[in-house]
Amino acid sequence: MLKKVGVIGAGQMGNGIAHVCALAGKDVMLLDVAPDQLDAALGTIERNMGRQVAREIITEADMKAALARIKTGSDYKIFKDADIVIEAATENEDVKRAIFKEICAHVGDDALIATNTSSISVTRLGSSTDRPEKFIGMHFMNPVPLMELVEVIRGLATSEETYKTVVDLAGELGKTVAMAEDFPAFIVNRILLPMINEAVYTLYEGVGTVKSIDKAMKLGANHPMGPLELADFIGLDVCLAVMQVLYEGLADTKYRPCPLLVKYVEAGWLGRKSNRGFYDYSGDEPIPTR
Ligand SMILES: NC(=O)c1ccc[n+]([C@@H]2O[C@H](COP(=O)([O-])OP(=O)(O)OC[C@H]3O[C@@H](n4cnc5c(N)ncnc54)[C@H](O)[C@@H]3O)[C@@H](O)[C@H]2O)c1
Repeated sequence: MLKKVGVIGAGQMGNGIAHVCALAGKDVMLLDVAPDQLDAALGTIERNMGRQVAREIITEADMKAALARIKTGSDYKIFKDADIVIEAATENEDVKRAIFKEICAHVGDDALIATNTSSISVTRLGSSTDRPEKFIGMHFMNPVPLMELVEVIRGLATSEETYKTVVDLAGELGKTVAMAEDFPAFIVNRILLPMINEAVYTLYEGVGTVKSIDKAMKLGANHPMGPLELADFIGLDVCLAVMQVLYEGLADTKYRPCPLLVKYVEAGWLGRKSNRGFYDYSGDEPIPTR
C-alpha cells in the first residue's frame, strides 16, 4: 500500500489530488515553483473540505487530521521517502520533463511516478525517466474531490505491478478506474472534445444558436450541461489544445478544430476563467455571446 504521496503542481488539479489523498489517510507532500500557489492551494483545500463537513460527507475531525497530513514546499528533498509522486504541473512537455529529472534524482529506486497529463504521450514522458516501468498516467477529472473517475494510462513500458498498485491507490482514494491505452487524449477527452468541437461547428454553420444548441443537448440527450456551457467550464484554450493533439496525433480531418473555436481563443474569450466565452459571465446570469 502506498502511504506517502508527493504531488507536483498546486493548481486546480494538484490541490484536488492533495485533498483526496490526505482524506484517504496518505501523508501528502505538495510542491510548486510558486509559493503563493501553495498558500492558495491550502486555502482552497480547507474551503472545499469545509463544504464537505457542512454536507456531512466528512467530520470536522477528518478535516483537521487530513489538513495536518499535508506538507508543502518548493524543494524536491520533501520527496525523499515518497512511495509515489503524482505530477500535475502545467501542460507543457519541457516543464514536465524537467520535473521528472528532479523527481528521479530525489526519490528512492522503488518510488513510482504518475502524470496527470491530459494529452501528452505517457510512453514518451516515461521514456525520459530512469524508470519507465514504474511510470504511469493517472488522469484525474476536474473537480477532483467530486468526480469519481480516474483514467489510468499505461505507457508501453509500464509494468503490470505498477498498474495494479496504482489501481489500488485510486480505489483507496474512493475513485473508480477506467483503463486506457496510450493514444492521443485517452478515452474521455477523445470522445468528449470532438462532441464539443461539433457543437461549435453547429453554431458556426448557423444550425442553432448558443442557447438552442445547449438546450437541445440537455433536453434531447439528457446531458447535465450543454456542450457550449461545458466548453466554457473546461476553458476554450484547453478544448482547442486537445483538438490539436487529436488532429495531429491521429492525422484525421474529422478532428479539425472548428475555426470559430480558434477565433474565440485568439480573442482571449476563454470561457468562465476570462468571464467570456460562448456566454458572458459578467452579470448575474450568463448571457449567450451569439
Ligand atoms: N484543468 C483540468 O480540467 C484538467 C483535467 C485533467 C488533467 N489536467 C492536467 O493536469 C495538469 C495541471 O492542470 P491544472 O489545470 O491544475 O493547471 P494549473 O495551471 O491550475 O496548475 C499548474 C500548476 O503547476 C505549477 N507549475 C508550473 N511549472 C512548475 C514546475 N516546474 N514545478 C512545479 N510546479 C510547477 C504552477 O505554478 C501551477 O500552480 C495538466 O497536465 C493538465 O493537462 C487538467
